[in-house]
Amino acid sequence: HTHTELINVCVCVCVCVCVVCSKQGFNDIGYHNPSIKTPTLDKLAAEGVTLENYYVQPICTPSRSQLLTGRYQIHTGLQHSIIRPSQPNCLPPHMDTLPERLRQAGYSTHMVGKWHLGFYRKACLPTRKGFDSFFGSLTGSVDYYSSCDGPGLCGYDLHHDEGVAWGQEGKYSTLLFTQRARRILEEANVDVLLQAVHTPLQPPKTYIYPYRDMANVARRKFAAMVSTVDEAVRNVTYALRKYGYYKNSIIIFSTDNGAQPFTGGSNWPLRGRKGTYWEGGVRGVAFVHSPLLKRRRRISKDLLHITDWFPTLVNLAGSQGLDGFDVWPTISEGKESPRQEILHNIDPLHRPPAQTMKWEPDRHPPPGPESEPQPVWDTSIQAAIRVGDWKLLTGDPGHGDWVLPSLLGRWWNLERTFSSHSRSKHQNVWLFNITADPYERQDLAHQRPDVVQQLLARLAYYNQTAVPVYFPPDDPRANPSHHSGAWVPWVEDEEEEEKYQGVYKKEKNVKKKKKKKKCRLCKLKSFFLKLNTGMMSNRI
Ligand SMILES: *[C@@H]1O[C@H](CO)[C@@H](O)[C@H](O)[C@H]1NC(C)=O
Ligand SMILES: *[C@@H]1O[C@H](CO)[C@@H](O)[C@H](O)[C@H]1NC(C)=O
Ligand SMILES: *[C@@H]1O[C@H](CO)[C@@H](O)[C@H](O)[C@H]1NC(C)=O
Repeated sequence: HTHTELINVCVCVCVCVCVVCSKQGFNDIGYHNPSIKTPTLDKLAAEGVTLENYYVQPICTPSRSQLLTGRYQIHTGLQHSIIRPSQPNCLPPHMDTLPERLRQAGYSTHMVGKWHLGFYRKACLPTRKGFDSFFGSLTGSVDYYSSCDGPGLCGYDLHHDEGVAWGQEGKYSTLLFTQRARRILEEANVDVLLQAVHTPLQPPKTYIYPYRDMANVARRKFAAMVSTVDEAVRNVTYALRKYGYYKNSIIIFSTDNGAQPFTGGSNWPLRGRKGTYWEGGVRGVAFVHSPLLKRRRRISKDLLHITDWFPTLVNLAGSQGLDGFDVWPTISEGKESPRQEILHNIDPLHRPPAQTMKWEPDRHPPPGPESEPQPVWDTSIQAAIRVGDWKLLTGDPGHGDWVLPSLLGRWWNLERTFSSHSRSKHQNVWLFNITADPYERQDLAHQRPDVVQQLLARLAYYNQTAVPVYFPPDDPRANPSHHSGAWVPWVEDEEEEEKYQGVYKKEKNVKKKKKKKKCRLCKLKSFFLKLNTGMMSNRI
């Protein structure tokens, strides 16, 4: 089912146009790879600021949840996987979303495209999470508006506001969503338009034609889809100009996870793929285009993350409990990024397929008071963190292969490539200097046990602030056959209101605990400040 939800675009207009393109890999945009034809995206990027040290989450729901809440998944309960269509789960109630905050500030907000943030009850729908209007699909995997959650569990999935928009079967979604975006711009005072266009695997022939020379069929189709997105962005940008929004607009283009090589996307030369914590899964393709940028036509190498859009767009000075930073001065003026680290994730439910060995620090540590580090972190837990140049991965980060574009789409080849790296099977700690080694080819864990120890401590610090994972079992009541064949909310609003109580109580407790433990954390913090400062000065 993962083969269908290929491209997403999120567009916020006038104040912002934000385009989220799912599964588009590092190698899937013209300015990284000239064999992919994206003239509009290339031009918009060239005239704006290209973000070349920007991160997203390795899969869809998590990236979207972070975009809309400005928080890491450890703070929303969505640490584990996506929200499946039959799962009674969604963004936590009481948690402000980006569109809610923009609406409070007086903006009108519209969303077009894929939601994928849960819909089991009405309170979860985009129109209840801050959007004035919604046109698109609620589940994650949509091919011409039909989506399945297991054999025989399929349903129609195109919605307008809170109702099913029947009768669009077979229409190409990217075109439909772009038309809708244009209509919104045409009709009224739009301030914020979030467009999450997704493109089915089979783009119309006219888009495939320019790629007829590509030998690999999966790659050809994928390239054609990316070109469709390029055209969608061209059309929306045209509409922005036509209806007078352009001069005040901010166009943000961002992928929402890395590419899946099985379906023709490419992260080359990065390591790993969609769903992994290697750079190929989390490093995002992104740019900002806006007449409001003060210093344009440049590349930003500042560390940025998808949680940053929330505070950046609502122009927050303080952090207000968010994990993101206001990075507008960084993007617009080239000031140093306030962000020094990214918690890529901690997922205590993800277990490696096989037993892994425990990481042991160097057996001959240099003499000194800190030479016998205490274990601070269970390294069988899947986690990844970036601090300055350093990136640490623990547990099972997912397949860590480097997939040559010529191998794309062929499962057997990929598996064979992977098994030649079987050395990594028994490993559960990796350390890389991403600045020096963006392709993650040189593991420094054994050379720098000191840094490993410090980053493990940092993971332990974040873990203390985490809420429990919320990953409920599928609910058979979701079955579309009970709902005229469509995916729709199936739980009454009064029912199950207690669901998130546990999570929220826990979060409050943690906040209190945080205060009490402040001094211990302070110590850790200043330790890390020092580490950061050291790394910053090394970098310059
Ligand atoms: C863009 O606009 C052109 C002209 O109106 C139209 O033919 C085309 O289908 C549109 N493309 C997309 C992706 O919306
Ligand atoms: C993370 O925190 C939870 C709850 O506080 C705790 O049970 C768990 O052991 C911690 N995980 C690690 C790897 O330290
Ligand atoms: C990482 O590598 C870069 C490039 O070689 C180097 O300048 C930097 O000092 C390294 N960072 C750390 C923390 O060692």
